[in-house]
Amino acid sequence: MKTQVCIIGGGPSGLMLSQLLHLKGIETVVLEKHSREYVLGRIRAGVLEHGFAELMREAQCGERMDREGEIHDGFEIAHDGKLSRVDLKKYSGGSSVVVYGQTELTRDLYEARDKMQGKVIHNVEDVALHDMKTDAPYVTYRDGDEIVRIDCDYIIGADGFHGPSRKSIPKDVLVEHEKIYPFGWLGVLSRTKPVNPELIYARHERGFALCSMRSQVLSRYYIQVPLTDTVEDWSDDAFWDELKRRLPEEVGERMETGPSIEKSIAPLRSFVAEPMRYGNLFLAGDAAHIVPPTGARGLNSAASDIYYLYHAMTDHYLNGDDAGLEAYSAKALARVWKAQRFSWWMTMLLHTFPDSISYDKRLQQTDMDYLFSSENALGSLAENYVGLPF
Ligand code: FAD
Ligand code: DHB
Repeated sequence: MKTQVCIIGGGPSGLMLSQLLHLKGIETVVLEKHSREYVLGRIRAGVLEHGFAELMREAQCGERMDREGEIHDGFEIAHDGKLSRVDLKKYSGGSSVVVYGQTELTRDLYEARDKMQGKVIHNVEDVALHDMKTDAPYVTYRDGDEIVRIDCDYIIGADGFHGPSRKSIPKDVLVEHEKIYPFGWLGVLSRTKPVNPELIYARHERGFALCSMRSQVLSRYYIQVPLTDTVEDWSDDAFWDELKRRLPEEVGERMETGPSIEKSIAPLRSFVAEPMRYGNLFLAGDAAHIVPPTGARGLNSAASDIYYLYHAMTDHYLNGDDAGLEAYSAKALARVWKAQRFSWWMTMLLHTFPDSISYDKRLQQTDMDYLFSSENALGSLAENYVGLPF
C-alpha cells in the first residue's frame, strides 16, 4: 500500500489531522490498534479550548459540537469552605471554553472520515516504523498472518503515550522529561444532573475534587486518590460520600447522586519528549507529551501540534515550502511547555501532597489568596485555561 502521510493512532490527534489533510487533497492512512467501539468507550477529556473548537469547525466536524456542546464563560474554585468564580470571559478578553466530551468529538471525527471514504484501519497489530531517516520511510503492521507494508512520505506518531512511535526514536536522540505525581484521579460518570452550571475545581485537605459534566443529564466527577487505590476499593456510595466531604456543604447538599456508568483511575503525570521530529517521523499529542488533567490541557496541547502539522504539510504539498516542517518541533514544543507549566501549577495549587511540609502548605494557601486578590493572577489563569494562541 502507498500513501502520502501514514498516521499511527486513531485518537483525536490522528483523526483530526487525517481529516484536515484530506480536505486539502493530501492522502492519509490511519492505523489504529483497537476497534472503534473500544476507542469510543474511553471516557477522557471534557473541556475544549476555543482553538480546538475552531479546528473542529475547520475540519468540517463542528456542527454537533456547536449544537450540543456548552459554552462555559467561567468556572468555580472551591476552597476554604466557599466558592470563588473565575470569570474566564472577563479575564481572558472575551474567550470561553466548550464542554463537549472527547468521546463525542472522536465519534464526529470517525463519521467525517467515513463520509469522505477516509482510510482508517482498525485492530492493526505489531505496528513498526522503518527508515524514518530516509526519503522512503514505511510502516508495517500485522493483519492476522499477513504483514502489510505502507510506503509513505511522512509518518505521524499520534499513538498516545504507550504507542510505538516515540519508542522507535533512538535513545541518544530523544530527551525525556517526566514528573510523576503521588496520586491519581478516580473518575465517575453518572446519569445525573450536574451539581452546578459551571465546573467546580475543589481544593480540600482530604484531597482534590472536580465536578464536571458532559451534558445537563450526564455528570463527570473526580476525586484525588492514592496511587495504591483500585476501582474495586471504591463503591459508588463511598465515592459520593467522599466527593461531598471535599465540597462546600451547600454544594454537597444539592448534589444528585446515582449509579456510576463508568469508573476508572487515571494516574497523574507530566511528560515531554523532545525533539518531536526524527527524520520523516513527526510526533503529535500524547505520543510526545502528557499533562496531569487538572488544567484540561491534554487534548488541547494535541490540537496545537495538529494545527502546526496541518499547516506545515499543506505548505509542503501545495506550495513546495518546507519551512513549517523544519520549524515544527521547536514551535510545537514552545507551546507544549507553556501548557506543561500551567497544568503543573494548577495541580500544585489544588492537590494535597502526602509529603508536604508546613512551608509548602502555607505557600499553597498564599497562592490561592493571591489568585483571588489579583486581577493579573486571574488574567494569567484565564488566558492559559482558554488556551494560549497557536
Ligand atoms: P490518544 O487519545 O491516546 O490516542 C492515541 C491512539 O493511538 C489510541 O486510540 C490508541 O489506541 C492508538 N494506539 C496506541 N498504540 C498503538 C499502536 N501500537 N498501533 C496503532 N495505534 C495505537 N484533555 C483536555 O484537553 N481536557 C480535558 O478535560 C481532559 N480531561 C482528561 C481526563 C482524563 C481522566 C484523562 C485520562 C485525560 C484527559 N485529557 C484531557 C487528556 C486527553 O484525553 C488526551 O490528551 C488526548 O486523548 C490525546 O489524544 P491523542 O490522540 O494524542 O492520544
Ligand atoms: C474534565 C477533565 C479535566 O481534567 C478537567 O480539567 C476538566 C474537565 C472532564 O473530564 O470533564
